[in-house]
Amino acid sequence: MIKFIEETVEYLNQKGFDKPEIGIILGTGLGQLINEIDIIKEVSYNHIPNFPTATVEFHKGKLVYGNLAGKKVVVMQGRFHIYEGYTLQDVTYPVRIMEKLGIHTLLVSNAAGAINLDFKKGELMLIEDHINLQGSSPLAFKGVEHLGERFADMSAPYDNEINTTFKKIAKIHNIKLHEGVYASVVGPQLETRAEYRMLKIIGADAVGMSTVPEIIVANHLKLKAAAVSVLTDECDPDNLKPVDIQDIIANAVKAEPNMITLFKELIKTL
Ligand code: HPA
Repeated sequence: MIKFIEETVEYLNQKGFDKPEIGIILGTGLGQLINEIDIIKEVSYNHIPNFPTATVEFHKGKLVYGNLAGKKVVVMQGRFHIYEGYTLQDVTYPVRIMEKLGIHTLLVSNAAGAINLDFKKGELMLIEDHINLQGSSPLAFKGVEHLGERFADMSAPYDNEINTTFKKIAKIHNIKLHEGVYASVVGPQLETRAEYRMLKIIGADAVGMSTVPEIIVANHLKLKAAAVSVLTDECDPDNLKPVDIQDIIANAVKAEPNMITLFKELIKTL
């Protein structure tokens, strides 16, 4: 993997991706952040050597380099999911690339279902901790010890200082920001009623199909990391309606302005 990483990084350096400070993964609900960036350079994933190629139609699949709130950022417009058939190593490969380009901080967004029924759709949740239910680890491969410690520490996977700043920003801007535990599942099917009950019992406040692999690798690489979920549906096992993907996306879009404010204001402080 080291050789592949070197090749990818060299390509991006040649393209002008010059020492970004912050990496951002735009999930559902943060796509419009791209409009706030002074873009210097952008490259489609399918042009980047050794990158997995984008498949999900909602995503444009581009790596973007530019300035945001006075900082040099590298942004993943669209991410990879295991439910698309990628491996966990594929899903997290871009995090390893962003780290080699020079980032010190990784910020992640996603759409998630609310397991904690005090949280409502359209609201935001700061991820304070996670539960990995994807059945494997992005660090479970031969040679991982050449890229970082095999037994990566997970005692504080989300940066405390960043989370405190996020909460301050939310207060100042009157944004409702819950805090909770995010459980990652494989998907792409949504959960059954029994699974929602289980998720509640084991301590999840929200459930989604991403983020945890990227955060594990960020910690493997000793990056500071933080993540915010936009809650797009309420997962009430006693009153479960058939999933409406259009409704999920509409709720993600509704929360977007608040998400953008949080990210922009945070980046100013980093
Ligand atoms: N499960 C349930 N609801 C969701 C999810 C999920 O993975 N993602 C967004 N809403």
